[in-house]
Amino acid sequence: MRKHIVAGNWKMNNTFNEADDLLNSIMEQLEEKELPRDTQVIVCPPFPFLEMTSDYANDSYFMVGAQNVSDQEKGAYTGEVSAAMLESMEIDYCIVGHSERRAYYGETNKTVAAKVDQLLKHGLKPIVCVGEVLEEREANRQFEVVKQQVEEGLFHLDAEHLQQVVIAYEPVWAIGTGKTATPEQAQEIHHYIRTLLAQKYGDAVANEISILYGGSCKPSNAKELFACPDIDGGLIGGASLKAEDFIGIVTAF
Ligand code: PGA
Repeated sequence: MRKHIVAGNWKMNNTFNEADDLLNSIMEQLEEKELPRDTQVIVCPPFPFLEMTSDYANDSYFMVGAQNVSDQEKGAYTGEVSAAMLESMEIDYCIVGHSERRAYYGETNKTVAAKVDQLLKHGLKPIVCVGEVLEEREANRQFEVVKQQVEEGLFHLDAEHLQQVVIAYEPVWAIGTGKTATPEQAQEIHHYIRTLLAQKYGDAVANEISILYGGSCKPSNAKELFACPDIDGGLIGGASLKAEDFIGIVTAF
């Protein structure tokens, strides 16, 4: 059966000491909980704090993810971080195609596909974000947009590689806005994504892929969202910056 996953995306937040404090609190609070075996907690800090996060993770129950990776293997790409570097630091996951990367840094479905390939080549699990912007939702184009993102970002993979991927549906109008998709809206798209996967790879493969919801997910709405049959957890931004809120979401299954 597929895993339940809660991944915290810190984005560009926290200084070194703040990161240290937050990791310490997350570790302490996780120690007090008995998490079900199929629940996976992932913390995705900015690059400079990956090593510190890994040190904490070694003594705790969570895994570590990066927020971005280069689409190139190595070489003269100033400021970039390669999948081989992340692999050498034993990083487990990496977010790809976040709407902020798509909107502000020109990430396209094509670069998403190239980044996914780099990560899989180096044994990391991609967390691939998809989701429509408000105008697309208002024009009822959410299915078409998500379909194209899933197909162009992932459908070049064979089934074995696809099974290493986690998908995050994040309606852009819900990210950081306090406006969460209703469980019905989220479930509808999650089910649609799983149907697309099933059509291409078969039911068995589609049922193994964890599909996370992201967008103003908090302790107060996580239970309802995670109770939906095709929602396997969350990608958490704002609420991952407070240990109490983050753990409140982790324990919402
Ligand atoms: P949010 O961000 O929880 O702050 O809405 C989610 C995300 O961008 O992954």
